[in-house]
Amino acid sequence: MFLHKLARLGFRIAQTSMPVSRCSASRSYFGAAFTPRMHHMAQTNHSFSTTATNEDFEGQGNKEKISVTFVDKDGEEKTMSVPVGMSMLEAAHENDIELEGACEGSLACSTCHVIVMDVNYYNKLEDPTDEENDMLDLAFGLTETSRLGCQVIAKPELDGIRLAIPAATRNFAVDGYVPKPH
Ligand code: FES
Repeated sequence: MFLHKLARLGFRIAQTSMPVSRCSASRSYFGAAFTPRMHHMAQTNHSFSTTATNEDFEGQGNKEKISVTFVDKDGEEKTMSVPVGMSMLEAAHENDIELEGACEGSLACSTCHVIVMDVNYYNKLEDPTDEENDMLDLAFGLTETSRLGCQVIAKPELDGIRLAIPAATRNFAVDGYVPKPH
């Protein structure tokens, strides 16, 4: 956790020199402005800004799994069982789905960008935090139902969710390094 925060801090310092327009407060992709109440929720829900750990799964006594389908840029579908509590980024990596996740879930990139294909499932997700909105603003091919895969956590209501992987991502690594899924 400390290393994640440190990595994120370092990345944000690097970002200040990048000529990128960011505007999370007026974000309108989701059909409504980011309200003060949502902002407050975001501030008080920082626990959602990291990916789930094995301890989280064990703590929940998790045995339940949901069905998740990833659709790649060529339209190829792969359906898998994902334990409740696991992030979609982790699920993708465990099943050899090409979803980058350059910062490994520390909200310092947008390479885990996924598009929720059914708005009904999108509406079942937790609201994105300010940090997630900041990164989504920089995502390639943003849509109204875009989310970061590392922030979408499997829960029973999401059983049957379908996630499209955009045709491209924007990797912010200064040296151009493109990490491989692991
Ligand atoms: Fe970087 Fe999700 S892996 S924000």
